[in-house]
Amino acid sequence: MAGGRRAAGLVVHWGCCLLLCCAAARGLEVSMPAVVEAEAGSTARIECSFYTPENSSSTSINWFYMDRNNRVRLCRIEGTRLLEENVDYKGRLSVGEDQALSISRVTVQDARTFVCQVVEGSHVLGENQTRLHVYKVPEAPEIVANTGGASVQSSEIPEIARCVSRNSFPAPNITWHKNGEQLHPEDNMVKMPSTLTRESNGLYTVSSILFAHVTREDRHSLYHCSVHYRLRGQRRTAESRRVNITVFYPAEHVKLQVLPSSALVKEGDDVKLVCEADGNPAPVFSFFKRGLDDVWHDLSSLTDTSSGVLNLHDVNKNSSGLYRCQTLDLDDMRQLEKDVELVVNYIEGVRVKMEPSSPLREGDSVRLSCNAHSPLSLDYQWRDEKGRMIGNGNQLFLSNLTFETSSNVSCKVMAPSVPGLEQSKRVAVAVEGKPRIVSISSPLYVRQDEEVNLTCKAIAFPRPSVHWSVNGTAHEYMEDQHIASNLTVRVSHDLLRAGAMCRVSNVLGVSEEHIQLLDQKIPESKGVIIVAIIVSILVVAVLGSIIYFLHKKGKIPCGRTGKQDITRPEARKDKIVVEVKSDKVSEEAGLLQGSNGEKRAAADQSEKYIDLRN
Ligand SMILES: *[C@@H]1O[C@H](CO)[C@@H](O)[C@H](O)[C@H]1NC(C)=O
Ligand SMILES: *[C@@H]1O[C@H](CO)[C@@H](O)[C@H](O)[C@H]1NC(C)=O
Ligand SMILES: *[C@@H]1O[C@H](CO)[C@@H](O)[C@H](O)[C@H]1NC(C)=O
Ligand SMILES: *[C@@H]1O[C@H](CO)[C@@H](O)[C@H](O)[C@H]1NC(C)=O
Ligand SMILES: *[C@@H]1O[C@H](CO)[C@@H](O)[C@H](O)[C@H]1NC(C)=O
Ligand SMILES: *[C@@H]1O[C@H](CO)[C@@H](O)[C@H](O)[C@H]1NC(C)=O
Ligand SMILES: *[C@@H]1O[C@H](CO)[C@@H](O)[C@H](O)[C@H]1NC(C)=O
Ligand SMILES: *[C@@H]1O[C@H](CO)[C@@H](O)[C@H](O)[C@H]1NC(C)=O
Ligand SMILES: *[C@@H]1O[C@H](CO)[C@@H](O)[C@H](O)[C@H]1NC(C)=O
Ligand SMILES: *[C@@H]1O[C@H](CO)[C@@H](O)[C@H](O)[C@H]1NC(C)=O
Repeated sequence: MAGGRRAAGLVVHWGCCLLLCCAAARGLEVSMPAVVEAEAGSTARIECSFYTPENSSSTSINWFYMDRNNRVRLCRIEGTRLLEENVDYKGRLSVGEDQALSISRVTVQDARTFVCQVVEGSHVLGENQTRLHVYKVPEAPEIVANTGGASVQSSEIPEIARCVSRNSFPAPNITWHKNGEQLHPEDNMVKMPSTLTRESNGLYTVSSILFAHVTREDRHSLYHCSVHYRLRGQRRTAESRRVNITVFYPAEHVKLQVLPSSALVKEGDDVKLVCEADGNPAPVFSFFKRGLDDVWHDLSSLTDTSSGVLNLHDVNKNSSGLYRCQTLDLDDMRQLEKDVELVVNYIEGVRVKMEPSSPLREGDSVRLSCNAHSPLSLDYQWRDEKGRMIGNGNQLFLSNLTFETSSNVSCKVMAPSVPGLEQSKRVAVAVEGKPRIVSISSPLYVRQDEEVNLTCKAIAFPRPSVHWSVNGTAHEYMEDQHIASNLTVRVSHDLLRAGAMCRVSNVLGVSEEHIQLLDQKIPESKGVIIVAIIVSILVVAVLGSIIYFLHKKGKIPCGRTGKQDITRPEARKDKIVVEVKSDKVSEEAGLLQGSNGEKRAAADQSEKYIDLRN
């Protein structure tokens, strides 16, 4: 209600008191402070002191307050007694020993002038007045940035932020600051209108809106507001937090780059063309590639226009060329563009030429030449089937070819300047010819009716087939590049006599080898002959001794030792026979080893083949 009455007088004014002083024409000096400050809600104490020569008990004090230009009676004090209290102040007034008047629970409505009038009876002895200042420290200002952002191209001054300071008295000021520096209103550049609201409790709320033009650099600017108020005559300031705003600006520069770095792109790579513009928000991106006809072909269908990334998957020679990124700012429809050259390094057309090109035969030599097309300088390597390096340079000479050296040879072409760029081409260096039998189990010592294996091993290209001249169970198997066949047969009389033929053939010819079977019982039959000889010798000896006996009877008497001498060599002969027999056995072992030895020879040949490759 008091607030309503005072609503018109929003502006607080200081020092208007002199107008009221004419009444103090009497001689009594009344001393009062010009201003008393009290925080809203606290107790204000207004001193009023004077000196009366005659310590008269009839002296009393009238207190008034000024409402506009009218005096309104507040109370009367006699001694320390409070009389005739104003109803509006009932219960809030008290008087101290020194006759100072205390007003408790002050409100902003109490911010007025109080008059202390000393009277004696109806005579006014003197008076003075005090201005009561009621203050309320404002709450810390609250700032809210414009979330919509501001454009550097905006034709109107864009709003930056709003600031509110609540519940203060008297009304404070709000100032605006950018990066710590105070902003001042400027025509068409900076505006900061503020509004002052008096709340029902009499306190003020001040709010202010900052409008200011922004530049690109303001994307990093921090804004804050400050509220300024006075406290006991001192200037005080409370600051809001700092806020930033989104600044919209058109792109000024466009960057287009190839990732990964363009010097090393090779065929098969996945490449990204990344286009970046420094505008905010990002503009719309379009990609183009210059064709052979110098026409720019739109690639936008391959890309997402908002991302600014063109993905090229599995690039090849044809992907090379000039690419363009174009940006379009939707605000001002301005276009910017940037070109980049994509170089896809490649190796193509790898060819291996063989000289001679006609089918190779055992003993031939061949020269392999490797060629490829590439804009880069190339290195050549030759590798065998197992990946081992067998030569450098774009030519490889292979001599003394055999079936065993037949192999698939690869020419690996590399561009040392572009790591990982390589191509290879494989050729078959195949030696063709009629089969060559490399090992055969002959002669083979067997016993009749025994089951034995006849083994025949051969090599050839094209792959040959093995045939046996006798019936049996054949089992074919591969050993390295050789084809081997085991024929399991029961040794018959016919087989012992005739032996067997191994016949290896392919389209280019036939090779045959005979397996000779020898009966292991032959030495035993020799033994029988020897026994027969011994028997006949014994017979001869018996006959001899009979003759000797008859002769002794008739002519010369002979010693029995002679007979013994003859029989002893017989025994020795028997020993020799045994030795012969054991010789045979070792010979047989040697022969069997011989077939193994041949096998080893085959192994040696394949080693030689490896050596030849290196
Ligand atoms: C009021 O009091 C002050 C302080 O004591 C004094 O300086 C001033 O002269 C007084 N004014 C009048 C009109 O008595
Ligand atoms: C006035 O009289 C009272 C007692 O009657 C005394 O205490 C006081 O000091 C006197 N004041 C002056 C100013 O003489
Ligand atoms: C408010 O601003 C005005 C004008 O700039 C100034 O005169 C006044 O002292 C300020 N008030 C406060 C409390 O800072
Ligand atoms: C304000 O700055 C912070 C930190 O630099 C940033 O994360 C935020 O996005 C900015 N906000 C606006 C609206 O620009
Ligand atoms: C490159 O383009 C040509 C002509 O368009 C085409 O014949 C050729 O196959 C392409 N090469 C590759 C590797 O795509
Ligand atoms: C080819 O091989 C044979 C037998 O291994 C050898 O005598 C001859 O010297 C070799 N020739 C060449 C050119 O290596
Ligand atoms: C070469 O490779 C092919 C396919 O892997 C194979 O069939 C052929 O036997 C190989 N040639 C030689 C000589 O090893
Ligand atoms: C083929 O026969 C020979 C001689 O009996 C034998 O040593 C070899 O193990 C046999 N080969 C196979 C694969 O059975
Ligand atoms: C004979 O060859 C067969 C099949 O190749 C094999 O299983 C067997 O072990 C061989 N016999 C001998 C005595 O080596
Ligand atoms: C092999 O066996 C077949 C029938 O089993 C026979 O006709 C043929 O005469 C036999 N050949 C030899 C050489 O024993």
